[in-house]
Amino acid sequence: MRAYTPETITDAVIEQMSTTPDPRMKEIMESAVRHLHAFAREVNLTPAEWIKGIEFMTKVGQMCTPARQEFILLSDTIGLSALVNIMHDKTKVEEATSASLLGPFFREQTPKFEPGAQIAKNAEGSELALFGRISSAKGEPLPGAQVTVWQTAADGRYDIQTDASTMDCRGVFTTDAEGRYLVRTVRPLGYYIPLDGPVGGMVQAQRRHGMRPAHIHFLISAPGYRELTTALYIAGDAHLEDDVVFGASGDLVAEIKEADPACPIASLPSVHFDFSLSRESVADKLTGRVGADPGQITAGDVAAEKPYGSPPPGLAAEAETKKGGILAGLFRGR
Ligand code: BEZ
Ligand code: FE
Repeated sequence: MRAYTPETITDAVIEQMSTTPDPRMKEIMESAVRHLHAFAREVNLTPAEWIKGIEFMTKVGQMCTPARQEFILLSDTIGLSALVNIMHDKTKVEEATSASLLGPFFREQTPKFEPGAQIAKNAEGSELALFGRISSAKGEPLPGAQVTVWQTAADGRYDIQTDASTMDCRGVFTTDAEGRYLVRTVRPLGYYIPLDGPVGGMVQAQRRHGMRPAHIHFLISAPGYRELTTALYIAGDAHLEDDVVFGASGDLVAEIKEADPACPIASLPSVHFDFSLSRESVADKLTGRVGADPGQITAGDVAAEKPYGSPPPGLAAEAETKKGGILAGLFRGR
């Protein structure tokens, strides 16, 4: 009978798992076990600490509904989503616009709009135009490309956070014969990621601010090209350098120009951004989205789910006092 020691147990587990027929599963599980065991040895993990970890992951799972994916949020806040995203982005076969996080607020059944249509139900006071061109990596325009856009409403929250049964501030647009897109929307606001669950508890225990810089999400596809999941980050935001989910990057920062003569809607402030797509490769047969509509992962009736909760009142009040500018209106109406 063998006696396991902290040094021998890892190889014993890997030996027992060596019958795994799927080679990729075998590789991933072997490596996961090696790293997890090394981690436990490195920090000298105690039984009480491991139970705490299990309780935490249990709460993360219990928080998941068709309208909310706490596991993706965990992956986002520890930088794992960003890492997987960046590694996948490096496998594209041509230089093109870089990817960014899909995030937890993407929804599959997004309504279609005509070019130039307003996607915000309440656009009073802060209208914004988004325009530009979708092209191949060689610069050829891509007519008929599908451009899905989603963002916070003027109050700094996504539709799914306030009322999961309605769609607001999201739309699918199609590019014209020259590959151009044009969207009317509102200025997005920087916002707290959902802090009312176990992941929020972790972020606050780490004394992190918990904010994402203001941004607009894009999911762009055209036949024969790799789907591009990305986002534009608004220049000047205070959290471009310390995004809580590590999604913001310099090449995706876009400026709001108050009067750009190139903007097709002359009366509006605008963001001009041209996106390019890489040709599709074998790697693109599987999804490149690091995330999903939560309803695809947990089945159920999304409209019957409770909306996301609010950030803890103490934190909200404190941050509002400190960062009045960027948070203006974020907690309006509560
Ligand atoms: C977002 O961009 O919407 C997002 C991404 C990751 C975590 C939370 C929010
Ligand atoms: Fe977002």
